[in-house]
Amino acid sequence: MCGIVGAVAQRNIVSVLIEGLRRLEYRGYDSCGVAVLGARGPSRARSVARVADLEGQVRDGHLEGVTGIAHTRWATHGAPVTDNAHPIFSRDALALVHNGIIENYETLREMLRGKGYEFVSQTDTEVIAHLIHSLYRGDLFAAVREAIAQLHGAYAIAVLHKDQPHTVVGARQGSPLVVGLGDGENFLASDALALAGSTERFIFLEEGDVCELSLDGVRIVDRQGEAAQREVRQVAAYGGAVELGPYRHFMQKEIFEQPRAITDTIPQADAFDASIFGEGAGQVFADIDSLLILACGTSYYSGLTAKYWLESLAKIPTQVEIASEYRYRESVPNPKSLVVVISQSGETADTLAALKHAQELGHKHTLAICNVGTSAMVRQTELSFLTHAGREIGVASTKAFTTQLVALFTLAATLAKLRGRLNDEQEAGYLKQLRHLPAALNSVLALEPQIIAWSEEFSRKEHALFLGRGLHYPIALEGALKLKEISYIHAEAYPAGELKHGPLALVTEAMPVVTVAPNDALLEKLKSNMQEVRARGGELYVFADTDTKIVNGEGLHVIRMPEHYGLLSPILHVVPLQLLAYHTACARGTDVDKPRNLAKSVTVE
Ligand code: M6R
Repeated sequence: MCGIVGAVAQRNIVSVLIEGLRRLEYRGYDSCGVAVLGARGPSRARSVARVADLEGQVRDGHLEGVTGIAHTRWATHGAPVTDNAHPIFSRDALALVHNGIIENYETLREMLRGKGYEFVSQTDTEVIAHLIHSLYRGDLFAAVREAIAQLHGAYAIAVLHKDQPHTVVGARQGSPLVVGLGDGENFLASDALALAGSTERFIFLEEGDVCELSLDGVRIVDRQGEAAQREVRQVAAYGGAVELGPYRHFMQKEIFEQPRAITDTIPQADAFDASIFGEGAGQVFADIDSLLILACGTSYYSGLTAKYWLESLAKIPTQVEIASEYRYRESVPNPKSLVVVISQSGETADTLAALKHAQELGHKHTLAICNVGTSAMVRQTELSFLTHAGREIGVASTKAFTTQLVALFTLAATLAKLRGRLNDEQEAGYLKQLRHLPAALNSVLALEPQIIAWSEEFSRKEHALFLGRGLHYPIALEGALKLKEISYIHAEAYPAGELKHGPLALVTEAMPVVTVAPNDALLEKLKSNMQEVRARGGELYVFADTDTKIVNGEGLHVIRMPEHYGLLSPILHVVPLQLLAYHTACARGTDVDKPRNLAKSVTVE
């Protein structure tokens, strides 16, 4: 999704800006651009291709400068064409990049047209550029502060003006922005990752902050205009570019990294102890009477899986909501409920807004389960549990999901223990099972050749149905999401018992029905649902635990999973679904790591 990089230095900073964009590329974008200040004002290069193309333009055009801003854009207002790519100029005096969405842009555009401003893009961003320009009286910082007071919506911006050659001004509200501190040079970015290699000292701006970067320092004021002292945090370099190694795509690499990611995420302690979730967690867990889980996409499905664990193991009522729905609906807050936000990136706009909404409603206890320790979500919650998936590059989330499940199972077991529902023997048993998970996952990954054989068949289909029951229904949902996301095959998931209430009408031999079949208490019910499919000529593709004794038959294709893995079974069963989606997408020749229209980090509403 959109990314910002900015810099003020005494050297040509174009390569720093381009490198920053390259580091943000994996998030997904459809155009990019860079602007630097020269003696006659800002000049820019923009591309609707990749950052590599932008770099070529910059080189050929000899674009150089000591002050600059750059951007990757994921289109919201206006198509991904050059005129809409950032940086956006105002009267060749001011250049601006923007992440987020301005909701009152139409009103502002009319007002600015009335003042003689001409609009050359379809973006909401152009109103910010002209608005700041219209308010500029020799002080860019003041003009930005005045302008943002008129904006409704979410934004992170970086802006420069031809009359202030060593200044970049930034502001944030609803979208992340960090300042990177250097020696005699300073930086701005939407993610610290963009500045790896340039600095390891960061200030994470807070909501409403406005900052001014110059050569020798950074000035920050808060929403009220008061000078703000923000903590400088040392963030270790994020390492260089992640290598693909022997894999064809990052998604495949990340699927195969799961045993390692899970090993790193499983708590080291020999007991399920509240302290795993941060200081004061014991007290918080003793105070609460329920959980409210908020998340989006794949992270939402990990929350749905957790509901089964939390309610069966810890007997604690758990509600799971899609963040973008929760934030706008009238709900009944329960201050004794622990709000759990789940996110790979920790920057998902809808989840952050839902968290804020819950806090405003009076929820005082919050916990983030997140893969990025420096993210806004971790900073804005009372407690946190960091998953150690490592950087996930593929837009389709895989190792982030399974590590979230490990975190959530740990939470369920911890709460169960605190509530007297887990004896020592059970605790030791679950810990042992967790520790054995990486080995069990390796045996599932070894099924890849069989899954490749199925994927050839799937690649010729346009629709697929996924079935699961109970604890494995969210896994069916996740399998369908993976398939549609990267192969563009229309896929739906249902709890198998729902088939007869509608979706059975879709079943023909052209609609493969993927079934998640663990050897659990619902197996016999699931087998009846499979019969319903077969009776209508549907072809079943079943991932069955070895001990289910389900075997190949007419219209019944079976891949045998290891023996049933109890409550942790969803963590094993999702892996073949990831592989099926991956290989089907490969067979269809899609851009697996960067599927069309999608972004890795969804920082707009
Ligand atoms: O970073 P988050 O976990 O908050 O992201 C939430 C969703 O955008 C994300 O899981 C999305 O659904 C993935 N592309 C799914 O593979």
